[in-house]
Amino acid sequence: MRLAILASGRGSNFNAIAENILSGNCKAKIAVLITNNRDAKAIDVAKKYSIPVEIIDIKSFKNRTDYDYEIKNRLDKYSIDLVVLAGYMLIIRSKELLEKYKIINIHPSLLPSFPGINSQKQAFEYGCKISGVTIHYVDTGLDSGPIIYQEAVDISECKNIEEVESKILITEHSAYSKAINLLSKKHTIFGRRVIFD
Ligand code: GRF
Repeated sequence: MRLAILASGRGSNFNAIAENILSGNCKAKIAVLITNNRDAKAIDVAKKYSIPVEIIDIKSFKNRTDYDYEIKNRLDKYSIDLVVLAGYMLIIRSKELLEKYKIINIHPSLLPSFPGINSQKQAFEYGCKISGVTIHYVDTGLDSGPIIYQEAVDISECKNIEEVESKILITEHSAYSKAINLLSKKHTIFGRRVIFD
């Protein structure tokens, strides 16, 4: 599978996927990094692995739909099978982009609990003993698409939000590659359920 990574920030999930590909634990190739942030650390990750980078400056577009349309145009250059959001901080608005490309996202909680931002903080403050990681298809909603893969993380011993974040992040770094491997297998979506043969 040829992947496009969309990232806005530090890019640790992007880095983990690239490492897992190199070590043979993720059966894919990263064709391009697309970012809306020219200062994103993810750009350094791309350079480290000689992956092409496309920077799209959101300020030069009239509206979000035009901006998303430009993402589609850039993706079209790379024969992409799967678009992987890895800390991409914008909601995708263009139906055309969502219809043309399979897009997945990683979220640091067991959805449908704690969608949106600060999920680790929300889980900690709620007093959860177990939280986790969800990889899901992207639709027009917020962290609402069909679930591909989930992994639980025991946070019962964590003393602060930072501990929760780092424990969940370690699981994210292996879970995303597992989900990508799963998606190379035959699967069907029945309503909200993603069923693997
Ligand atoms: C991760 O916690 C991911 O679950 C969330 O955004 C964060 C991105 O981190 N969607 P990184 O940029 O991959 O380090």
